[in-house]
Amino acid sequence: MHSGAERVLRYEGKAKRVYRTGTPGECVIEFTDAATAFNGERKGEISDKGRINCATTSIFMAMLEEHGVPTHVIRQLSETELLARDVEIVPLEVVVRNIAAGSFTRRLGVPEGTPLSRPIVEFSYKRDDLGDPLLTRSHIEVLDLAPADVVAELEVRALRINELLRSHMVDRGVTLVDFKLEFGHTADGELVLADEISPDTCRFWDTATGDKLDKDLFRHDLGDATPAYQLLLDRLGATGVPA
Ligand code: TMP
Repeated sequence: MHSGAERVLRYEGKAKRVYRTGTPGECVIEFTDAATAFNGERKGEISDKGRINCATTSIFMAMLEEHGVPTHVIRQLSETELLARDVEIVPLEVVVRNIAAGSFTRRLGVPEGTPLSRPIVEFSYKRDDLGDPLLTRSHIEVLDLAPADVVAELEVRALRINELLRSHMVDRGVTLVDFKLEFGHTADGELVLADEISPDTCRFWDTATGDKLDKDLFRHDLGDATPAYQLLLDRLGATGVPA
């Protein structure tokens, strides 16, 4: 881990560790090579993933900030670490889909690769012990998971982020199939995009070849994921950790 400041582990997720720093309102997010799928049923490593996903997230978050989308990222600290604003995570996973794949295909019988007539936004309950179940607006309201105005705002932001990511990737020969976002509130109440944007949390297909450039390679044991993750990062034009 990045040396220097005192850090205390605050939270250990499946692919990231979050540390408190000495500065109130800030945290350090460390990306690891650990990979899980199907709610932790499948466990392993994707070598070099921590570095690749840290850089990828850093690039995407900076692009979104440039287009007026507030995010938790302050800056990249090292190859595998970001400095971020501390947030209270809204306990919803916000999924946007442009093309049928994954659980949408399994649940609804729509063949993988079928383009959707418009982007779909789905909410799931962020609860590993329950397997992150899909939620309706009524569930969110009755379980008091988030106020209706926040849910409406999450949908607006998710669709805006979809447009920005989609057009960014089109220019780089990559099709954005679907992705998952998480949002949080900062100490002063600002709603910001949090977590990561990477091949762990998005489906990316090479537009020319149809090759998968994401975690589906690991989920379905389709081959080494590292070169695909690196290819995606290369398409983003990564130049290394900013000074
Ligand atoms: P799904 O088709 O499995 O529901 O996944 C939709 C998108 O969300 C896909 O891009 C992968 C991403 N995702 C996560 O980031 N974390 C998760 O736990 C799950 C299930 C999906």
